[in-house]
Amino acid sequence: MRKAGRMAAEVLLFAGKLVAPGVTTDSIDAEVHDEIVRRGAYPSPLNYRGYPKSVCTSINEVICHGIPDSRALADGDIVNIDVTVFLDSVHGDTSVTFEVGEVDDHSRLLVRETRAAMYLGIGAVRNGAAVNAIGRAIETHARAHRLGVVREFIGHGVGTEFHSGLQIPHYYERSHNTPLETGMTFTIEPMLTLGSPDLYLWDDQWTAVTADQRRSAQFEHTLLCHDDGAEILTRTPAGEGAAEVYTKE
Ligand code: MF3
Ligand code: CO
Ligand code: CO
Repeated sequence: MRKAGRMAAEVLLFAGKLVAPGVTTDSIDAEVHDEIVRRGAYPSPLNYRGYPKSVCTSINEVICHGIPDSRALADGDIVNIDVTVFLDSVHGDTSVTFEVGEVDDHSRLLVRETRAAMYLGIGAVRNGAAVNAIGRAIETHARAHRLGVVREFIGHGVGTEFHSGLQIPHYYERSHNTPLETGMTFTIEPMLTLGSPDLYLWDDQWTAVTADQRRSAQFEHTLLCHDDGAEILTRTPAGEGAAEVYTKE
């Protein structure tokens, strides 16, 4: 899991270098695909439940699972790139939201605080903590910044399966009291919105967009639960992921 996580982090750093106005999401998909295969891994999204590409690219009002196509990134866009690699029988899953050129103040706040919310959720992880401690930390932060929290998509157990049974909501619900245990591997991947978190799916049955067309941002790490906290697996040995290199506080 450490090796897969590290590789996913490195591929996401690579993907970040491709982000620029005029670049199509199809070309990002092709380059990320080749990079993952070159490293001896498989891009987990490809053919997963019929998903047609190797990476998810979610621009502006797209919440998640945007399918790469011929659309070019434009100055002022925000784009989440979600990379999952399958290496030595396990998955590493990580994403960040990149800013394309100069973005408006609302978008910058959205990106910054979504990143902060993810790290607050990660900070709630330890052996014996209830799963809803994660959602409570994220939702409290989102509310303080008047941001919406998407409910339909949640973090998940990850390991030999891309999405295992463990569910990690990014909102608080008293009944979500499953205790986290040392050794568990799962993602935290909050999607926050500038307006309402209500969404609908495009006819492609993948692309999730905000109902009010306002922007959404997402960050994701794969984590390992320890007795006293979370180990972030989707980082380089230097402790960096794309969230550190490309998006700052
Ligand atoms: N990587 C996404 C997640 O964080 C899942 C993408 S499923 C796909 O769970 F089929 F759209 F790739
Ligand atoms: Co995930
Ligand atoms: Co992901």
